[in-house]
Amino acid sequence: MLKHKKILIGVTGGIAAYKLPLFVRLLKKAGAQVQVICTPSALQFVTAETLSVVSENPTLVHFFDEKTGMWNHHVELGLWADAFIIAPCGANTIAKMVQGECNNLLLTTYLSARCPVWIAPAMDLDMFLQPSVVQNIETLKSRGVYVIDAESGQLASGLEGKGRMAEPETLFNTLEYFFNPPNTHWKHKNILVTAGPTFESIDPVRFIGNHSSGKMGICIAERLIQLGANVHIVLGPSHETPPANCKFTRVTSAQDMLEACETAFEYSDGLIMAAAVADYRPKTIHPSKIKKDDAELTIELVKNPDILKTLSLKKTEKQFCVGFALETNNQEEYARKKLNEKNLDAIILNSVSSQTGFQTDTNQVTIFDKSGKHIDSTIQSKEEIAVFILDTLNSWIFE
Ligand code: C5P
Repeated sequence: MLKHKKILIGVTGGIAAYKLPLFVRLLKKAGAQVQVICTPSALQFVTAETLSVVSENPTLVHFFDEKTGMWNHHVELGLWADAFIIAPCGANTIAKMVQGECNNLLLTTYLSARCPVWIAPAMDLDMFLQPSVVQNIETLKSRGVYVIDAESGQLASGLEGKGRMAEPETLFNTLEYFFNPPNTHWKHKNILVTAGPTFESIDPVRFIGNHSSGKMGICIAERLIQLGANVHIVLGPSHETPPANCKFTRVTSAQDMLEACETAFEYSDGLIMAAAVADYRPKTIHPSKIKKDDAELTIELVKNPDILKTLSLKKTEKQFCVGFALETNNQEEYARKKLNEKNLDAIILNSVSSQTGFQTDTNQVTIFDKSGKHIDSTIQSKEEIAVFILDTLNSWIFE
């Protein structure tokens, strides 16, 4: 419920700023108190007067009120707010937030804020793909800033792609959801999640790995955190940023992952094993770089431990284990077989196509449980698939 919540909104210069009065309206209708801070360039896209009228508070832009000469106290603003949302948040402000710069009221307030902070990035598609912007957003995420992902569609430049600010309703729902998450069985549960590939060393510079990005497991971990679970994520060598508000263990090989999971599983109510563990590893790791003198090279491989099976065979009545399966043929048959052989409560079958599986932002899954039930999702973003998975498991496992 947003009633009586104090919401601070930062607006930066971007065409999407024209949608902000609608967002403020939604918050006011829900009974929230709203204070808007604009950067000077935001005022080229939306007027301070419009935002003042809809928020029922003077829009702040400068450190000093031009009429009264009074100081707009950024520390007080930062302490007043229950939530601070910067929307649209352009590349310039994102970069300054990373650097800790504070040459306007919005940035100083960000540095002083103790409440949770969201950004809703908005920019042109090529800017959004710039490695510096990508890295800056990841840095903010790793520091605990929540990111409301940009949407794809027609951009102000006339180009089409990802970069549109999320719609005002999405911004509103994000806050509403934060303050009033649905009451599920996930709340206060200790959940162990694995994600990413494993790399198995051949010599000091080479390894055997796979294309798993780790995104699906990270989306599951993020959703669990939103639902109030205590999450421990064990992440293989992935470039994705793990969520900030959970316990995090970085591993490289399957054996590292097994070790980390064995300890963590003891304190967990359940395991969701989304990692793509390498099935085999080189029998020996060559101590120095293997020279390419020979025309052929044979590497002897040995089977890695099955982490999921090892843990699920030890699970108590109160614990659950869920695995993933990625098959290219006889998908359903193999998934059900794995469910039984690995003693799982449920298994999530990933389909493999250009839009689903490894290295994609979207996925399509079928979930099977041990009683024989199954349910299909449509193709959705990995964030939405995480919602689908956890909603299904919530009713199948705990009820
Ligand atoms: O047997 P398969 O690799 O298809 O099973 C996939 C499931 O088992 C996934 O949940 C994966 O994380 C897990 N797994 C494991 N240890 C392995 C191989 C797979 O935990 N060595």
